[in-house]
Amino acid sequence: MSEDGVNQRRRLLLVTTGLGLVGTAFAATPFVLSMTPSARAKAAGAPVEVDISKIEPGQLLTIEWRGKPVWIVRRTPEMLKALPTIDAKLADPKSEVKDQQPDYAQNATRSIKPEIMIVVGICTHLGCSPDKRLEAGAVSGLGADWTGGFFCPCHGSLFDLAGRVYKNVPAPTNLPVPPHKYLTDGRIVIGEDQKGAA
Ligand code: FES
Repeated sequence: MSEDGVNQRRRLLLVTTGLGLVGTAFAATPFVLSMTPSARAKAAGAPVEVDISKIEPGQLLTIEWRGKPVWIVRRTPEMLKALPTIDAKLADPKSEVKDQQPDYAQNATRSIKPEIMIVVGICTHLGCSPDKRLEAGAVSGLGADWTGGFFCPCHGSLFDLAGRVYKNVPAPTNLPVPPHKYLTDGRIVIGEDQKGAA
């Protein structure tokens, strides 16, 4: 092939390659766009379905919803019995502060089913992660009269096993109860209730 012929062939190859790249870019765009809404929905926090059937009495399961930890505890009969006994020590025992729970959780156990506690596990003071001190009594390190709950190590706030905050601690409100609903006895959805997604 002459030198002219070789140069012409090189130019042709470059143009073809360039077209190939443009073609790839156009082909990739719809794929990226189709992925974006689900990534956005995930970041915004789509409802999360959870199997709670394996949680034993007295156990806590942590799941993530909207980037936050949500604690699910299957309360024992003893834990439930202890709840009303400490009302006098609590800042908002009847959950009267609005927006800390949906209407259907504004009751003595702050839950739909008394045995299942569901709260967002972030301290309502400055957002630290409270320690789980589910066991009652001195073994908790919080005194013999401790009835189980959560202790925030940052500034000492205390919450009971319904996420209710104690009096005279820095945290101003109870732990939030997220919107949720039951699909069956063993399956729940966090982030959606009978009215729809939160
Ligand atoms: S952040 Fe929990 S007590 Fe301050």
